[in-house]
Amino acid sequence: MRRRRRGLPDSMVPEPKMTEQEIQGLVAAATAARVAAYVPYSGFAVGAALRTAGGHIFTGCNVENASYGLAVCAERSAVFQAVARGQRAIEAVAVVTENGVTPCGACRQVLTEFNPRMTVIVADMGGGRRIYTLPELLPNAFGPEHLQSR
Ligand code: THU
Repeated sequence: MRRRRRGLPDSMVPEPKMTEQEIQGLVAAATAARVAAYVPYSGFAVGAALRTAGGHIFTGCNVENASYGLAVCAERSAVFQAVARGQRAIEAVAVVTENGVTPCGACRQVLTEFNPRMTVIVADMGGGRRIYTLPELLPNAFGPEHLQSR
């Protein structure tokens, strides 16, 4: 059987250990961050909030550009905020959009770099919510352990 890093197959990745209050707090932070989204081209505002192992919360929103390909997603914006402040142990991310979509592939890859077991909460603006683990969204991920030359 193929096994993921740290020996656990995707199906055995533990359930998130966050309390309901922590989940609601993270969704609220992502909802607030979404207000700042700069989306003149797509009109699709995204807010993200990360919770670190130390209990700190970092947020981000998507920022678009007249050169369309330079848009940065909310999730990556939040990750870079955390890392720039020396906080790399990311336990969970909440992503809020109008319709409750899951993070794009590029963001899944960036998230797995900092915790392949991360909890991913997606919420919509109508109060709907789903909770995933990152291995559900990005199975058999490529990660730093696959770089033989390091
Ligand atoms: N977007 C995000 O911020 N996160 C995602 O996971 C998906 C896409 C943004 C990028 C762009 O500003 C807009 O949503 C439409 O693709």
